[in-house]
Amino acid sequence: MTDERPNVHVLCSLATLPDLGICEVSVGEGDWPLRGVVVLQHGVVHAYQNRCPHAGHALNLRPNEFMDPTGTWLACRSHGALFDLASGACVAGPCVGDALRRIPVRVVDGSVELVPGVDLHAYL
Ligand code: FES
Repeated sequence: MTDERPNVHVLCSLATLPDLGICEVSVGEGDWPLRGVVVLQHGVVHAYQNRCPHAGHALNLRPNEFMDPTGTWLACRSHGALFDLASGACVAGPCVGDALRRIPVRVVDGSVELVPGVDLHAYL
Protein backbone atom coordinates (compact mmCIF):
# COMPACT_ATOMS: atom_id res chain seq x y z
CA MET A 1 0.00 0.00 0.00
CA THR A 2 1.19 3.54 -0.61
CA ASP A 3 0.96 6.50 1.73
CA GLU A 4 1.67 10.16 1.18
CA ARG A 5 3.31 10.65 4.59
CA PRO A 6 7.11 10.37 4.59
CA ASN A 7 8.58 7.29 6.31
CA VAL A 8 5.15 5.78 6.94
CA HIS A 9 4.73 2.17 5.95
CA VAL A 10 1.09 1.19 5.67
CA LEU A 11 0.75 -2.60 5.75
CA CYS A 12 -2.93 -3.11 5.09
CA SER A 13 -6.39 -1.77 5.71
CA LEU A 14 -8.46 -3.01 8.65
CA ALA A 15 -11.34 -3.22 6.20
CA THR A 16 -9.50 -6.04 4.43
CA LEU A 17 -9.10 -7.96 7.71
CA PRO A 18 -12.30 -9.60 8.87
CA ASP A 19 -11.96 -11.06 12.37
CA LEU A 20 -9.42 -13.85 12.28
CA GLY A 21 -8.35 -12.36 8.98
CA ILE A 22 -4.83 -12.63 7.70
CA CYS A 23 -2.90 -10.26 5.50
CA GLU A 24 0.49 -11.10 4.03
CA VAL A 25 2.63 -7.98 3.80
CA SER A 26 5.96 -6.87 2.42
CA VAL A 27 7.78 -3.63 3.23
CA GLY A 28 10.91 -2.30 1.64
CA GLU A 29 12.69 -2.46 -1.66
CA GLY A 30 15.13 -4.89 -3.21
CA ASP A 31 15.67 -8.58 -2.71
CA TRP A 32 15.18 -8.58 1.06
CA PRO A 33 12.06 -6.67 2.07
CA LEU A 34 10.52 -7.19 5.49
CA ARG A 35 7.98 -9.95 4.95
CA GLY A 36 5.25 -10.24 7.51
CA VAL A 37 1.82 -11.43 8.37
CA VAL A 38 -0.86 -9.27 9.98
CA VAL A 39 -3.62 -10.95 11.99
CA LEU A 40 -6.81 -9.45 13.38
CA GLN A 41 -8.09 -11.50 16.32
CA HIS A 42 -11.05 -10.34 18.43
CA GLY A 43 -10.43 -6.73 17.43
CA VAL A 44 -6.71 -6.77 18.22
CA VAL A 45 -4.10 -6.52 15.51
CA HIS A 46 -0.94 -8.63 15.70
CA ALA A 47 1.92 -8.60 13.23
CA TYR A 48 4.81 -11.03 12.91
CA GLN A 49 7.79 -11.47 10.70
CA ASN A 50 7.02 -14.20 8.17
CA ARG A 51 9.99 -16.26 9.23
CA CYS A 52 9.70 -19.48 11.19
CA PRO A 53 12.07 -19.65 14.18
CA HIS A 54 12.76 -23.31 13.44
CA ALA A 55 14.65 -23.15 10.15
CA GLY A 56 13.99 -19.64 8.97
CA HIS A 57 11.55 -20.53 6.23
CA ALA A 58 8.55 -18.42 5.34
CA LEU A 59 5.48 -19.82 7.08
CA ASN A 60 3.41 -20.06 3.94
CA LEU A 61 3.85 -21.65 0.56
CA ARG A 62 0.91 -19.92 -1.11
CA PRO A 63 -0.20 -16.29 -0.72
CA ASN A 64 -2.12 -15.65 2.50
CA GLU A 65 -2.11 -19.35 3.44
CA PHE A 66 -1.16 -19.10 7.11
CA MET A 67 -3.79 -20.87 9.19
CA ASP A 68 -3.82 -24.51 10.24
CA PRO A 69 -6.78 -26.63 9.04
CA THR A 70 -8.72 -25.93 12.27
CA GLY A 71 -8.41 -22.17 11.79
CA THR A 72 -6.95 -21.85 15.28
CA TRP A 73 -3.20 -21.44 14.83
CA LEU A 74 -0.72 -19.87 12.48
CA ALA A 75 1.01 -22.79 10.81
CA CYS A 76 4.39 -23.24 9.22
CA ARG A 77 4.05 -25.31 6.07
CA SER A 78 7.66 -26.54 6.16
CA HIS A 79 7.67 -28.78 9.23
CA GLY A 80 4.31 -28.17 10.85
CA ALA A 81 5.02 -25.75 13.70
CA LEU A 82 1.90 -24.10 15.14
CA PHE A 83 1.87 -20.61 16.62
CA ASP A 84 -0.50 -18.76 18.93
CA LEU A 85 -2.16 -15.86 17.14
CA ALA A 86 -1.95 -13.42 20.04
CA SER A 87 1.58 -14.10 21.24
CA GLY A 88 3.35 -15.73 18.30
CA ALA A 89 4.52 -18.49 20.65
CA CYS A 90 5.17 -21.86 19.11
CA VAL A 91 2.75 -24.34 20.74
CA ALA A 92 3.56 -27.45 18.71
CA GLY A 93 6.22 -28.68 16.34
CA PRO A 94 9.99 -28.46 16.27
CA CYS A 95 10.34 -25.00 17.82
CA VAL A 96 8.16 -25.19 20.95
CA GLY A 97 9.38 -22.58 23.39
CA ASP A 98 10.39 -20.19 20.63
CA ALA A 99 8.17 -17.58 19.00
CA LEU A 100 7.56 -15.63 15.86
CA ARG A 101 9.19 -12.22 15.93
CA ARG A 102 6.64 -9.50 16.53
CA ILE A 103 6.57 -6.46 14.25
CA PRO A 104 5.50 -3.28 16.05
CA VAL A 105 2.42 -1.89 14.37
CA ARG A 106 -0.33 0.59 15.14
CA VAL A 107 -3.72 1.36 13.66
CA VAL A 108 -4.21 4.86 12.25
CA ASP A 109 -7.38 5.90 10.46
CA GLY A 110 -8.31 2.31 9.72
CA SER A 111 -4.91 1.33 8.40
CA VAL A 112 -2.32 -0.94 9.98
CA GLU A 113 1.08 0.66 9.74
CA LEU A 114 4.55 0.11 11.14
CA VAL A 115 5.29 2.07 14.29
CA PRO A 116 7.51 4.96 13.16
CA GLY A 117 11.20 4.32 13.60
CA VAL A 118 11.09 0.57 13.11
CA ASP A 119 14.43 -0.45 11.62
CA LEU A 120 13.63 -2.66 8.64
CA HIS A 121 17.24 -3.85 8.57
CA ALA A 122 16.77 -5.40 12.02
CA TYR A 123 14.51 -7.97 10.38
CA LEU A 124 16.99 -9.24 7.83
S1 FES B 1 10.79 -24.06 9.21
FE1 FES B 1 8.91 -23.89 10.25
S2 FES B 1 8.63 -25.76 11.28
FE2 FES B 1 10.54 -25.95 10.26
